[in-house]
This record gives sequence, C-alpha cells and structure tokens, in this order.
Amino acid sequence: MSTPTRKPLISGNWKMHHNHFEALQMVQKLAYLLTAEDHAAVDVSVHPPFTDLRTVQTYFMSEKEQIPIALGAQHCHWEEKGAFTGEVAPAMLAKLDVAYVIAGHSERRELFGETDEQVNRKAAAIYTAGMTPILCCGETLDEREAGATEAKVRSQVEAGLAGLSPEQVGGMVIAYEPIWAIGTGRTASSDDAQAVCALVRSVVADRSGADAAAAVRIQYGGSVKPTNAAELMAQPDIDGALVGGASLDADDFARIVQYRL
Ligand code: 13P
Repeated sequence: MSTPTRKPLISGNWKMHHNHFEALQMVQKLAYLLTAEDHAAVDVSVHPPFTDLRTVQTYFMSEKEQIPIALGAQHCHWEEKGAFTGEVAPAMLAKLDVAYVIAGHSERRELFGETDEQVNRKAAAIYTAGMTPILCCGETLDEREAGATEAKVRSQVEAGLAGLSPEQVGGMVIAYEPIWAIGTGRTASSDDAQAVCALVRSVVADRSGADAAAAVRIQYGGSVKPTNAAELMAQPDIDGALVGGASLDADDFARIVQYRL
C-alpha cells in the first residue's frame, strides 16, 4: 500500500522547553543548517510552546527568502471562543500561520485526561480552521506486553477519525508513538514500528478507503535520534518522525531531517 508520492514530514515537538528567546536562536540555527535540498526532500515542522509562536512566525516571515519550515502547535481547544480559561482556539493559531497542530499526544491524554472524543473534536476543529492535525496514538508498556497494542491503536485511530471525510483523512498526519518509547531512549525496533504503522494504514483503508490510506502520512515517534532515523524512515509505512528530546538541539534535529545523507 505504500506509495513513493508521500513526502516525509519530520516534526519537532518541543513540549514545555525553550522560552521565546531560545526559540528564536533555535530556529535561526535550524534555518542555517537545513538546505534547499533538504526542504525539497522532506517537510519540516517545529512545534514550540504557545508563547514562542509569534516570535518564530515573525522570523520565518521576515527573511527575504521565506524559510520553508512549517510552524506547528502542540495543542488547542476545539471551540472557536468562550469561557475556557487557559485554552487557545484553533483560529488563533491559524492567524499565526500555524500549519500543523498535534492532537491527542499521550502526555495530554495521560496527564491532562484528554479523551478520544475530545481528540476527535479537536482534529475536526483544526481542519475547520484551515490547519492539519497530527493525530497521535500509541500503547503503554503494559498494553504491549499484554498483546493489546493492535486493539489500543485501532480504537484510538478509529475514534480520532470519526466524522472526518476521506479527503480530510488522506490529508492528515497520524503519529504512532509507543508510550514506553517516549523520552526513555528505548526505540521501537524498525520492524515493530513498521508493523504498527502498517496497521494504522489498514485502519484508515477500512474506515476511509484506499485513496485516503495511500495518501495519509504516518509518523513514528519515540526516542528518534540521528542514529536511528534512517532505519526507521526506510520502512514502507513510516512517512516521517515526531521527535521530542532530539528536536531541542538544532544540530541533532537537522541530522534527523538529513537522515537520507
Ligand atoms: P522523545 O523523542 O523525547 O522520545 O519524544 C517523543 C514524543 O513524544 C514526540 O511527540
């Protein structure tokens, strides 16, 4: 089911790291390290904390040759506006040229109680505001050891896609991030990662049809490093990476983007 037309997307999820000064230094260095050939081969997004977005957007726009790194966010609410203290609306992000928004990261699910239903509402709202969701799924270590990986990932993906059209599903990004591999230095083997990413694609095919399945980009996330990126990216159903820790260092993140060299 894999097709060579899917352009890889490598995304840096900074989580709660870097103030806006540090963010500016980071993206300046990244813009310097990445070449036109890199951008031709790979789409790149960075997902700083909310307080950094305006600074990074202004920098990306201010360069004479606009910098082809996409701006991303880590989270948003699904409502357009209202009494939701501390939340940020999708349209507020779109106004800052945010292109991708992560929905349902396991840290949001585990630490802040996000449900499948909320994640699905968010994915729809991200589309309504003209951006692309990066829908996250993945199993815990207990679930893996109990043989429940497939059931968990299938149910998260099915719930996340509910109500989305085949075109929307084909245009989105799904990130498979086994929770036991996040921030632990323990990466899924490329075979295991491929097997679950292939499962995600088959769930998309069942739910939204073959065209959507052929078009949807599936990222792997969980301790992706410059040393393991090439092997993961060589898998037929892995179309990119969602990188946490290693995206905080411009050199490491650039080397991941340059995995093919
Ligand atoms: P690490 O790359 O630090 O394991 O984090 C992965 C992740 O959660 C990206 O969203």
